[in-house]
Amino acid sequence: MPQMFPESFLQEVMDKNDVVDTISRYVQLKRSGTSMKGLCPFHREKTPSFHVSADKQFYHCFGCGKGGNVISFVMQMENLDFIEAVKLLAEQAGLTMPEPSGRTDSGAAERRRLIYKINTGSARFFYDCLLSERGEAARRYITDRRLTQNTVNKFGLGFAPEGSRLLARLRELGFSDDEILLSGMAVKNDSGSIYDRFRNRLMFPIIDVRKNIIGFGGRVMDDSVPKYLNSPETAAFSKSYNLFGLNFAKSAKDSFFVLVEGYMDVISLHQSGITSAVATLGTALTPEQARIIKRMRQEAVIAYDSDEAGQNATKRAIELLADEDVTVKVLTMNDCKDPDEYIKANGAGAFHELINNAKLQIEYKISKLQEKYNISVTDEKVKYVSELAAEFAKIKSPVEREIYVGKTARETGVSADGIFSEIDRLNAASERKNRFDHASRGLRGNPSVGRLSGENPERENALRAEKTLLNLICFDPQVFQMTAASLSSGDFEEGAHRELYERLSAVRNSGAEPDARLIVAQMSGSEAAAGILIQELNIEDNVLAARELIRRLTAYRKKQKLLETVTSGDLSQSQKLDEMREYLRKEVGTNEQHEQHEQSEQYGE
Ligand code: GTP
Ligand code: MN
Repeated sequence: MPQMFPESFLQEVMDKNDVVDTISRYVQLKRSGTSMKGLCPFHREKTPSFHVSADKQFYHCFGCGKGGNVISFVMQMENLDFIEAVKLLAEQAGLTMPEPSGRTDSGAAERRRLIYKINTGSARFFYDCLLSERGEAARRYITDRRLTQNTVNKFGLGFAPEGSRLLARLRELGFSDDEILLSGMAVKNDSGSIYDRFRNRLMFPIIDVRKNIIGFGGRVMDDSVPKYLNSPETAAFSKSYNLFGLNFAKSAKDSFFVLVEGYMDVISLHQSGITSAVATLGTALTPEQARIIKRMRQEAVIAYDSDEAGQNATKRAIELLADEDVTVKVLTMNDCKDPDEYIKANGAGAFHELINNAKLQIEYKISKLQEKYNISVTDEKVKYVSELAAEFAKIKSPVEREIYVGKTARETGVSADGIFSEIDRLNAASERKNRFDHASRGLRGNPSVGRLSGENPERENALRAEKTLLNLICFDPQVFQMTAASLSSGDFEEGAHRELYERLSAVRNSGAEPDARLIVAQMSGSEAAAGILIQELNIEDNVLAARELIRRLTAYRKKQKLLETVTSGDLSQSQKLDEMREYLRKEVGTNEQHEQHEQSEQYGE
């Protein structure tokens, strides 16, 4: 990570943003020994392997390997680059930003900021148009849809007029055509001329949780098609990572989000005081959006359209959210197409009732299957029970499962035992499949699986020794002296270890004590570094341990060199034999014993 802020400023940002406090806003942490532990926000897991150290001020997940300090956490969590994350943290701590030294900003972040500016200018223009003479029809449309002026202001609604007026305005504001095209607010046709993407549409700005306008949706005001047009994917806008209305819903007091299909549903619900409503951006719910929901709420109430498409989308959304362990409920609106229409017909109070009466997803599925099958016909009853068993197999709580199995047994006359054995059969099959997936990932050496891939135990041992040694070097000056006398950074097996060693040496050689937080902030391989430095090693005698580790690493290095020698084409057969004899005389005999010993030693966990 190149240095973009003065070191003292980074220090201050980290001092003022405690890593435990910051992470606690996203993850429930529980004390465990000297550190805090919780469910990793970066991968799916059932048992906590995400550790946060208050002393050292960083985090590390033993499951997926992600780790770092408070800055990298905010970068990963909020999808920000380094500068943006530092800014956000500085803001939260009430610090004033120093001017960044030099142009080290990444190109993507710069493009993103440019697009925010263009979007902000566009939203202002659309809003002005709505209020102007040109916006008369749009204003009428808004009134017809019973949106208040307050709602228009809150959501920043606007009107995109005919022609390419926005393009003209953006040029006036000083943006180049290339920049405008980058934002997606204008498009170029085959003959090379540029014109407005959104023409004669009611405009909905899409605003992220940091209040940036990341894109737009635009609706026609008659029956023409397409009904909705959205901004394209740009450096600032990703449909699968954002939700419409989240900027408001995130501060709603409800313990759940109401998930709806359309922009108009969100707006209508918010206007009725149901401010926890969010919608996807014209696509089906994505796993990323499910993760965002999980991060912010334990529960989601799905209120999709009552048509068939909406019900199919409900099924998919249930699976994605349940995968994230979000409690899912489903709300059904009899006789009404969508929440917007329901509220118009029945009022906000009635919709609150629907929320209160929303069915748990499993109950919803049962009622859907009841509609689908006629259980007085044997054939259909069999299908009904086996589809239900597949649903019950996913229930984690045995008590809950028992209840539903009992209900189904009573309803169908099939014995509870029979249903349970079907569930067991399904679970055994999926267990076998999991094991298979697991094993085949292991073969490909996925780093998140297991601790040892078993591919090269000697190398794994060396890597483990390197990690322990680097940890000791960071906290013990004497260990550094010993290491520097026998090893150089090139002797470390892994790139991140070499970099970490170089940084630690640079600090120690200057006579200072390394600050683990700063080192992690500056490392390009900061995850590996955090994983290493977060360890609390309970070693009685650092010097003794270091001597042994250095010896092992030196031996490993020599053996590697020998292997390179004997496989190289540069030496004669007899030279190679001499090398080998020399190596065997000096090294082997003492070595094997130690390797046995290493196998039983554990690093991490
Ligand atoms: P109204 O008809 O204004 O009440 O809108 P709605 O939100 O009820 O529309 P609908 O249920 O038809 O669609 C739900 C959501 O799907 C919309 O809010 C859009 O995000 C998206 N959508 C609908 N039609 C289109 C389309 O033609 N193109 C694209 N890209 N998205 C669409
Ligand atoms: Mn609608």
